[in-house]
Parts: sequence; C-alpha cells; structure tokens
Amino acid sequence: MKVISVLNQKGGVAKTTTTLNVGACLAAKGYRVLLIDLDPQANLTMGLGVEVEDLKYAVNDTLLDPDEVPLEMILKQIGDLPLYLAPGHIDLAETEFKLISSAGREYRLKNALEALLENHKFDFIFIDGPPSLGVLTQNGIVACSHFLIPTEPKFYAFAGIDTLNRMIVRLTKDLRFKVDVMGVLITMFERGTKLHLEVAEAIHEQFGDKVFKTIIYKNIKLSESESQGIPIIIYDKRAPGALNYDALAEEIIERSGEPLPDDPGVGLFA
Ligand SMILES: Nc1ncnc2c1ncn2[C@@H]1O[C@H](COP(=O)(O)OP(=O)(O)O)[C@@H](O)[C@H]1O
Ligand SMILES: [Mg+2]
Repeated sequence: MKVISVLNQKGGVAKTTTTLNVGACLAAKGYRVLLIDLDPQANLTMGLGVEVEDLKYAVNDTLLDPDEVPLEMILKQIGDLPLYLAPGHIDLAETEFKLISSAGREYRLKNALEALLENHKFDFIFIDGPPSLGVLTQNGIVACSHFLIPTEPKFYAFAGIDTLNRMIVRLTKDLRFKVDVMGVLITMFERGTKLHLEVAEAIHEQFGDKVFKTIIYKNIKLSESESQGIPIIIYDKRAPGALNYDALAEEIIERSGEPLPDDPGVGLFA
C-alpha cells in the first residue's frame, strides 16, 4: 500500500485534478483507492459530486477528534468503483488554526489513517493538499510514504519545488521519518507553446528520472468533467485528459514496485 501526498503550495497547478482522476483510473483498474481532501476549498469533494452541505462530518472533524469521529465514519464511496473519499470542508481552515497550538499536531492524519487501516485495506491512498505549507500540509507529509508534485511548465515551478523540498527534508529530519518522491508531474502542457517546451526540458534536466514520462496536456474536458462531479475516465474515456491520467496511473503502478530508499534525509532529488 502506498500513501501518496499530492503537494504544491501554488494553487491551480492541478493537484486536485490529478488526485481525483488518477484515483478514479486506478479504481477503474480494480485497485482499492482512498482519496483524502485536506483542502478547505473542498474542490476534490465537489469534483466527485459530493454535496458538502449535506455532510454530517468531514475530515476536519476527524483531525480535531479522531476518537469521536474516526475516518471510517466519514468515508463515502464514489459510484460503483472501489473508490472512497474522506471529504473536505471549509471548516478545515479553522481546524488548521486550532491545531497550531495543540500537541502532536502533525500526527493527526497519520494516526487516523493507521486506525482506519486496522480494519480496511486500500492499495493506494492519495492526499490532496491545500495551496500552502501550514499544518494541514504537514499532516499530509507526515502521513504519506511518497509525494507527487504536479507543476505547470512555467518558470516559477523551480523556486516552488525547491521551497517544498526543503520543507519536506526539514520535517523528515525533525520528526525522524522517511518519505520518498513518487514523481514530478508536468500538467496543463500546451502543445506548440515554445515556453512550455523549454520549461518542460528544464524540468527534465533538473529532476531527471523523477519526472513522470506521462505529461498531462491541457484539455477542457478535464474542467468540464470536474464541474459535472464525474471523473474524466467515466465522463469521456476517450478524451485526451482521460488517456493522459490513465497513462499516469500505469506509471504509478510501475513506480510503486520500487522499494523505499534507505536514506532519504539528505535531499530528495539528490
Ligand atoms: N490538464 C488540464 N487541462 C485543462 N484544465 C485543467 C487541467 N488540469 C486542471 N485543470 C483545471 O485547472 C483548474 C485548477 O486545477 P486544480 O486541480 O483545481 O488545481 P489545484 O488543486 O492545484 O489548485 C481547475 O479548474 C481544473 O479543472
Ligand atoms: Mg486543489
């Protein structure tokens, strides 16, 4: 089982789109998949067609009181797929604020997940992070075995990934745990755009084989399907976005066979 945190402190780089669609593609192949929405904007939850107003409990309740509201209690199955969602909620913003002054604040999600996994089996768990580097993101990092960084092919990407990498290295050293990089994913690539081609090449130079071979091209069907609350693989399985995310799912399956490194603390892209 792999727990993959989808991270980038920049908003609008396709964290949620990637979590939702790669999760659905893996579930469509028969894997048991859990998606966790850690973003107060709850875009993942809405993008899967779950009405946030109708929820009695969401992941913010679990983070604040895991004994009273265990993860098991908030899970929603999506359609007929072996795809489950731990929904997010706007109150996550307040939860983050409350957690700042509480003991063991970084471990809330990890502990809740461990309790869930005592009775439930999943092949892949994806955590959709918020566009910030606060306590919620830290919970996402502490709970994961791997992280995946989506990025647009724009020059700001390098500074952003560097900041994120430094934070992950510091956290793993301070709290003494291991994580490994699953990959850097180039998203919203526009064919025929010279700048995108140049930056994509530079990203490959910088991060080498950490970059996924699969590139996610810009495809309006991805936005359409999200606004309908349906994963692209079900909305239009022949759309370029569906084919791209299916290829990414295959690559993640392949990469997941790799063992964890012995010493990830020195620099994750070394
Ligand atoms: N490959 C793509 N082609 C076209 N639109 C996309 C693509 N990926 C994401 N989008 C759209 O871009 C917006 C931001 O994506 P999102 O996944 O919400 O980013 P993040 O979670 O990083 O903030 C959304 O409206 C989404 O539908
Ligand atoms: Mg998002």
